[in-house]
Amino acid sequence: MDKIRINLYDILACISSAQELVSLKLSNHHQQVAYLAYRLSEHINLTTDHHKDIFLAGLIHDMGAISSKEMLELIETEPVTVNHHALRGSKLFEGFKPLHNAAGIIKFHHLPWDNGKGSKYMGEEVPLASHIIHLADRVCTLFRSDRNILTQIPDILSTIREQSNTVFNPDIVEALFKLSTKEYIWLDLTSQFPTKMISDARISNVFTAEIDDIVDLALVFSRIIDFRSRFTACHSAGVAKTAERLAQLVGFSPDECKMMLIAGYLHDLGKIAISDDILEKPSKLNEDEFNEIRAHTYYTYRLLEPIEQLKTINTWASYHHEKLDGTGYPFHVVGDSIPLGARIMAVADVFTAITENRPYRQGMKFDTAKNVLNNMVASNALDGNIVKLLIDNFHEINNNREISQIEAAKQYKNFLLVAEDNGELEI
Ligand SMILES: [Fe+2]
Ligand SMILES: [Fe+2]
Ligand SMILES: [Fe+2]
Repeated sequence: MDKIRINLYDILACISSAQELVSLKLSNHHQQVAYLAYRLSEHINLTTDHHKDIFLAGLIHDMGAISSKEMLELIETEPVTVNHHALRGSKLFEGFKPLHNAAGIIKFHHLPWDNGKGSKYMGEEVPLASHIIHLADRVCTLFRSDRNILTQIPDILSTIREQSNTVFNPDIVEALFKLSTKEYIWLDLTSQFPTKMISDARISNVFTAEIDDIVDLALVFSRIIDFRSRFTACHSAGVAKTAERLAQLVGFSPDECKMMLIAGYLHDLGKIAISDDILEKPSKLNEDEFNEIRAHTYYTYRLLEPIEQLKTINTWASYHHEKLDGTGYPFHVVGDSIPLGARIMAVADVFTAITENRPYRQGMKFDTAKNVLNNMVASNALDGNIVKLLIDNFHEINNNREISQIEAAKQYKNFLLVAEDNGELEI
């Protein structure tokens, strides 16, 4: 597995649809904005590279809104703290090279045009593309599900016109008016998979990635997953490092070890689909809430499933709550039918969960953790060989887990501070 050709749009659609599973109101929001921003950019004189970056920016523009509450607020209005998610989203993605430009675009995607004053902010040039995303975003939040989309066009246009030159760049508003006479634009926007409606070689969607690129992207995803809840803000970082080390000890090849690392970063992907109230509930969960949590591995599996190249990684990630005796969930896979990678992940997940500190309790020390793990081997939940390797190398593995979680905690702190550091944008 030296290089894999992978569709970056499919991966981004996977994480954005995870975020949108929280509410029907969010359905396809990222894809709709990507589609409309792209169509608008066709009407404005921009280079080919810009088309691609605008499209990518549309797909990730609200991913800095880590809580489902914040995401829903953004759909309904532009709240006072509207720029927090834009700055944070930009911070999350700027280090990942293929999305570096898109990160620069989303940074200012709620900045008002303000008679042209919005072309610069705090000494920084604001890309025109940011204003394109802004308009596309606001148009898409005006859609109502109880009326035919074509019937809604006059109302949408009048709302936007009222804000031309104040909130929105007038040239982009003009481009929207030109586009708006074409029914297919609106029908594409409200179709099941809006971005698939664009077939344009200029935005070739296949990205030839080294495995290290996928590691980098999975790390960004792990932050989005973990930062959803302060209780588990560093969890995937610990699981990933532990799973990678266990894979080395089991004798996996270097590439397979990197695949374990990726699977570790993604194993709780489905948690993005769970509402904040449940993830952050301080008291005991009731049966319904607990069942909602249990669905997270199912979502991880279904979200990654369309990406053929990640098939093995998906199984290793999504089976982490399966047990050898078949009483795990959600597939009830039994014994040897659980791939070795998934059995490693299960051990890494339990080990990390019991040894990591949480805001409400300290992690277990060696003896207690060892007992818990051995009991799970005795009850035929976890693989005894892998648990033995872990116990034999406990201090080294525990140290690595801690180091990677300390780094993740630092990132979490920076992530929370980023909006404050950059000042509050006025809207
Ligand atoms: Fe936004
Ligand atoms: Fe948005
Ligand atoms: Fe899990």
